[in-house]
Amino acid sequence: MSDSALETAIAQVEKVARGQAPAPVVRSFFDEATFTATHVVHDPATRQAAVIDSVLDYEAASGRTSHATAQKVVDYVRAEGLEVQWQLETHAHADHLSAAPWLQAQLGGNLAIGAEIVRVQSVFGKIFNAGTEFARDGSQFDRLFHDGDRFAVGGIEATVLHVPGHTPADMAFVIGDAAFIGDTLFMPDYGTARADFPGGEARQLFRSIRRLMALPDATRVFLCHDYKAPGRDHFAWETTIGAERQGNIHVHDGVSEDDFVAMRTARDATLSLPNLIMPSVQVNMRGGRMPEPESNGTRYIKIPIDTL
Ligand SMILES: [Fe+2]
Repeated sequence: MSDSALETAIAQVEKVARGQAPAPVVRSFFDEATFTATHVVHDPATRQAAVIDSVLDYEAASGRTSHATAQKVVDYVRAEGLEVQWQLETHAHADHLSAAPWLQAQLGGNLAIGAEIVRVQSVFGKIFNAGTEFARDGSQFDRLFHDGDRFAVGGIEATVLHVPGHTPADMAFVIGDAAFIGDTLFMPDYGTARADFPGGEARQLFRSIRRLMALPDATRVFLCHDYKAPGRDHFAWETTIGAERQGNIHVHDGVSEDDFVAMRTARDATLSLPNLIMPSVQVNMRGGRMPEPESNGTRYIKIPIDTL
């Protein structure tokens, strides 16, 4: 079966490897409170940039938000003289709130996510009993990406790959020779993302991962999360396709689809929900915006009892 989106991404990475296209510069900011890596990727020639998977600080006990983590991105972008074209989300995160609308107000850029976000909005709109003011058509975003869509960061070509499994809407952004793969693979010594959220599926995750692993071995891979790993006491968020194929503890070359699904399903059954899933999903399904204020002017996060 031909896979033209993947072939386009492979050709794009190879062009950078041959020196026929520029490599993007990537600077990552790791938030230890949510174990999330935010990446700022830019074209050194035009200084145009994309911000990928930003984090809004949220204090669960008090319901207070703040911007210390996102401010680091703003400071870096200004110090480097970058012009932000994109605020990208690899998926609707369940473990941290997106700072994309706040960063967009500070720095600009089009807010984009995978088109399947409408399925996520439909599922979680029901779970949280959102009112009709909550549009489930993705209109909170400036652009909805489909598999194989192309865009650019300055003069650097980018290809979007749909990589569902963790959620239905997960997208990988291959920008030059750098792949921002969201919650699919983690570091080789940690394995893979869970596939048990509503709309997730382990078999689909395996196929998405094998698709990513068809990129050239030298492809630089930037992760959304890291949790350290037994024997490793520092956080890491960059690896390569070759290192993942050779050494990923869950899904290295040779692991079968059925073995992966059995492992992933058994492991997911032992995991508790992320601490911030309630606020994260309600905010991120709205493109990182808080629910509309109630009649007293205050915005609220709901908690469905005995539902999730
Ligand atoms: Fe996630």
